Amino acid sequence: MNSVLFVCLGNICRSPMAEAAMHEAAARHGLDLTIDSAGTGDWHIGRPPDTRAQAAALEQGNVDISQLRARQITNRDFLEYDLICALDHANLRDLRAMGGDGPAEISLLLDFLPGSEGHAVADPYYGSDADFVGCWRQLADATEALAQKLAMSA
Ligand code: 4NP
Repeated sequence: MNSVLFVCLGNICRSPMAEAAMHEAAARHGLDLTIDSAGTGDWHIGRPPDTRAQAAALEQGNVDISQLRARQITNRDFLEYDLICALDHANLRDLRAMGGDGPAEISLLLDFLPGSEGHAVADPYYGSDADFVGCWRQLADATEALAQKLAMSA
């Protein structure tokens, strides 16, 4: 397993936070991984993460995600990534509809977090700053669990 892509709807809230949290987790576990994120939708292409996501990443994870820019998932991603993690069930459905033939494994991110299997990471876009903080913490736990699993099978 060499590469992981995180996918949400807009690529400005959940998946860029997941990307950043996974970078931290991979570094802690000594994993050499290509890590990126994308959205299923095209509304925010080229935009930086939502300022509330930037603040949560900085305050909770000490990570600056202001340089990230949203992009939309492409068919190539299904060929280039070993694992594509959907943040919620709609993302998972959209990914399966798009990429059935590629070699990428497609999963819900929270399937890797013991006790949260089958659950979605709730979209904080219409929520509060506290929802973004909660989202970061959930993503930090999930990416830590994923990195642990990848480190054990490396
Ligand atoms: P994300 O959040 O999928 O976690 O990036 C959203 C961002 C934007 C919208 C919805 C969700 N939107 O409707 O514009």
